[in-house]
This record gives sequence, structure tokens and C-alpha cells, in this order.
Amino acid sequence: MNQQYNCDVLIIGSGAAGLTLALHLAKNSDVIILSKGLMNEGSTFYAQGGIAAVFDENDSIDSHISDTLIAGAGLCDIDAVRYTAENAKPCLEWLIEQGVVFDQEIGSSNYHLTREGGHSHRRILHAADATGQAIQTTLIERVKQHKKITLLERFNAIDLICQPKKSITASQEKFCIGAYIWNRSSEQVESIQAKKTILATGGASKVYQYTSNPDVASGDGIAMAWRAGCRVANMEFNQFHPTCLFHADAGTFLLTEALRGEGAILRRPDGSRFMPEFDDRAELAPRDIVARAIDFEMKRLGADCMYLDISHKDKDFIKSHFPTIYEKTLSLGIDMTIQAIPVVPAAHYTCGGVMINSHGKTDIDNLYAIGEVSYTGLHGANRLASNSLLECLVFARAAAIEIAGCIDHSLPYQTLPKWDESRVTDSDEEVVIQHNWHELRLFMWDFVGIVRTTKRLERALHRVELLQSEIDEYYRHFKVSNNLLELRNLVQVAELIINSALNRKESRGLHYTLDYPETDKEAKVTILTP
Ligand code: FAD
Ligand code: SIN
Repeated sequence: MNQQYNCDVLIIGSGAAGLTLALHLAKNSDVIILSKGLMNEGSTFYAQGGIAAVFDENDSIDSHISDTLIAGAGLCDIDAVRYTAENAKPCLEWLIEQGVVFDQEIGSSNYHLTREGGHSHRRILHAADATGQAIQTTLIERVKQHKKITLLERFNAIDLICQPKKSITASQEKFCIGAYIWNRSSEQVESIQAKKTILATGGASKVYQYTSNPDVASGDGIAMAWRAGCRVANMEFNQFHPTCLFHADAGTFLLTEALRGEGAILRRPDGSRFMPEFDDRAELAPRDIVARAIDFEMKRLGADCMYLDISHKDKDFIKSHFPTIYEKTLSLGIDMTIQAIPVVPAAHYTCGGVMINSHGKTDIDNLYAIGEVSYTGLHGANRLASNSLLECLVFARAAAIEIAGCIDHSLPYQTLPKWDESRVTDSDEEVVIQHNWHELRLFMWDFVGIVRTTKRLERALHRVELLQSEIDEYYRHFKVSNNLLELRNLVQVAELIINSALNRKESRGLHYTLDYPETDKEAKVTILTP
């Protein structure tokens, strides 16, 4: 018989959001954390630049708010922005209490604050250029010490289990009682019953051919929530990071915006600087503007890449502030202390997501979403650099306060409905999944990328619909696998992105379309309802 686990709180995802929530709740609740890959494998581990928070006495929360609103191009939710900026420092102090060590000024106890695009002050705390690794490994160590936290590694959440509310009104309202999960070791579908279920599954940038994200970023939480009946918002706003390493042997590797914050310059292949021609803030303009400028210059010149140059800075400064990038590029034969680094934009961050309230609650009772999977309103049409890890910490804490206050520990467990595998067999054509997988990511890159048109979006939608029916058919007949589960979710997320993009008849922030190049006076959130 397939196993059923029971717990107070099921957290799907072991990144900054999931781990933070677990640590806040584990004093009083039994928590299971699920991770479909290894516990460390998520965007959090790869974060480079750092976390934004006001630590400098010359800086102010109002300035952090204002920078976030400007980057968000008129579409941020002011309450979410204020709440995040005001809670940034206490959340960072909590992280420091957990043991995360941020860089300090030489000979001083003050933190070294770096700068990134769109920030009018130095306000980014960082651990050299491997901030995410410091956070992820520290929080993992802490959760491993907790008796009330169980870690289930290499388990994919497949779908949420929801029940209708027994209400006298004929409402469609539901509540969540857990999830079906696929145990990758035993290759069995199992289930988890939970009083509260939290999606902390990260973003969906893997829907694009070129991305800075690790493989797990396949939008599973967004797709699961949508299938369960939750609304999603602002899915058209996919952030493309301007500077990912362009090298045949590099895989996906980011070159942090902090390089530009510390003076790196973007150059054309002939060595000329171009950003001042696009924006007065030059290399430190918000990301959407820099990525579009690079894309424009690459297309105009027929160039494979542009170049990021910090070689004018002191060699020791470069090596001590950017040791990971220095080592990586050197291993590929590029010495960044004397030469410029080839760069291209790549899909980096999902600004939209599952709609939640200020405490992380979704449209379904007992179901929450935190971190990159969620839409809080903080990022608007374009996320300000280093506000994402911050959002994970702030909203994990907000959700923890709400959950701790309303969880009913006395609620008895019940037996969950069994997963029906009676009509499925082993897959005989893995090649179908592989092919669809590549096709989807390629047309998303070509037709739904940095610069869009209605015609291209419609083309992409048509292809998505064909893929969807093929994948649904496949899903109904064959046993699940990681690739099949991810593909099913990616194609769902692709549809949400395209439909949201088609709905927006203007250009704003990260959504730029040649058919509607102007920005409307009134800013409206795109909300899709299942
Ligand atoms: P993740 O850290 O992505 O974790 C997601 C978790 O969910 C993983 O454990 C994964 O296994 C699990 N999961 C997903 N689907 C399932 C499923 N179906 N079943 C079970 N488990 C599942 N932001 C900043 O603020 N500052 C930075 O400097 C910065 N640098 C970045 C650099 C890179 C290269 C990248 C990719 C991102 C960067 N970001 C940065 C963005 C930031 O890292 C992420 O937005 C943030 O870490 C997301 O955290 P999360 O907890 O929401 O998700
Ligand atoms: C970077 O270091 O450039 C990434 C920062 C971010 O995504 O916020």
C-alpha cells in the first residue's frame, strides 16, 4: 500500500521561503519540508548579489520604497512594498541570528553594502558573490537540528488535494488537505495530509530556453495552484537578467548586477560603451531597460553577445568581492581582471504568481504560497534587484504568524483518497517528452521573450494548446516521471504567461510589445481566474 504521511504543516520547497517558514513554525508544529531535488537545489542557493535592506543611516525606508515603486513601473502594490521595506531589517537580523555571515567593511563592524541597478543607495547585504549559498546552507543546517522538522528529499509534489467546503450555500469554495507526491527513489505515488499546506516552490524561468535558474524552476507551484482553483496575477512579467555568461561550456551562470554596482561597464564587441545612449542611469538602470538595450544592440549588430568590463578596477578588489565569478570565468579562460566578459540576457525571475493576501494565504483555505511562486504585489511590472530573497523572508514570517495563530492541532487525521494508477503503464516513448520539452522552451524564448508582438504571442499560444492536449493524453496513459511532471507544469505556466501577455495592450516594465509600445495612464494588474 502506498504510504500516507501526516503532519501539521506541509511546506513544498526548501529554498529561502520554505526553510524560513519551517524555522518559524517548528516550535509548535510538526513540519514536513518537501524538495523535489536535493535540499540545496533551488534558486536560493545560486543567488549572488545579496539582499536589500536599509542598514545605512544615510539611507531610508522611504527611499527603498521609492526605488521599488520606480522599478515596478507603476504596478506595485504600495502596501506590500511598504510592509516589505519596513520589515526588511528585522528579517535580516533574524537571518544573522540563524548564523548567516554577511561581508563587513574592512576594519569595521558595519556591513559592506553593495549597490545594484535601480537602487539609489548602497543597501545590499551580501556574502561576497555567493549570498544564496550562505543563506541556503545555514538554514538547512538549522532545520536539520529541529526534531519537529522532517525533510523529504527527492519527492515531487504532483497535485494538491482539496475538498469542497460543506456549506449550505452552493459555493465552490474548497480547502486544502495535502498533496499527492511522487517518491523518486521508490517511484511510487504517495500522499501527505496536512492541516496547512504551503507552496514555496520558486519560479518558472525554466519555461525559457535560456535561463539563469536551476532545473527545478519549472513553475510547479503555480501550475498546481491554478489546477486547484487559485487565481494567478501578472504572469506576463518575466524578468530577464541582463548579464548571464555567454560561453559554450558555461551552462547557466549569472554575472551579478553587483558588478555593475561596483563600476562594471557594458560594451559592444568593438569596445564602445552603449548604456548611456539608452538611459541616464546607464549600467545602473533597472533590469528591464538594460536587458532590452542589450537585446537591441545584439539584434542591430547581429552580435552573439555584448561584454561586461570591470577590468579597470583593482585586481585584488575584483578577486575579493567576486571570488566565485573570478574562478568560474578563469576556468573558462577569461581573466576578468584584464578582459571583458561575454554576456547575454536570460530568463531570471517570475514577477507574477499565485495571488495571496498579506499573510500568504491563497484563494483556497489552508493553502498558502510564499517566495517566488507567489504574487504579493511587491514587484509590479519589474522586480528591483535583491528584493526577492527579502520577499521570501518577509512573507514567510508573515505567513508563520498567521498559521501559528489559526492552526487546529486537535484536528484528527483521515485517510486520503488513493491515487488511481489502474489505467497507466510505463512510458514507451520518453522521446515525446524530450521533444516537447525542447520545443516549448524554444518557442517561449523566440515568441514570448524580451520584445513581443501580438502575432508572435498568438503563434506561441497555438503551439501551447497543441502541446497541452498531447501532454494531457500522455499524462493520462503513462506513469509519472520527473520530466513528465515538470513538462505538464511548464506548459500550463506557458499558457498563463501568454494569455496574460495577450491581455496587456500596452508596454510596461518587463512586458514590451511592438504592437502597443506606449504605457497606459492607468496601471492594472492582470488577474487570471481558473
Ligand atoms: P527556490 O529557492 O527556488 O526553492 C524552490 C524549492 O521548491 C526547491 O527546493 C525545489 O526543489 C522545490 N520544488 C519546486 N517544485 C517542487 C515540487 N513539485 N515538489 C517538491 N519540491 C518542489 N534574489 C535576490 O534577492 N538577490 C540575489 O542576489 C539573487 N540572485 C539570484 C541569482 C540567481 C542565479 C538566481 C537564479 C536567482 C537569484 N535571485 C536573487 C532570485 C532569488 O534567488 C529567488 O527568487 C529566491 O531564491 C526564490 O526562493 P524560493 O524559496 O521562493 O524558491
Ligand atoms: C544579481 O546578483 O544580479 C541577482 C540579484 C537579483 O536577482 O536580485
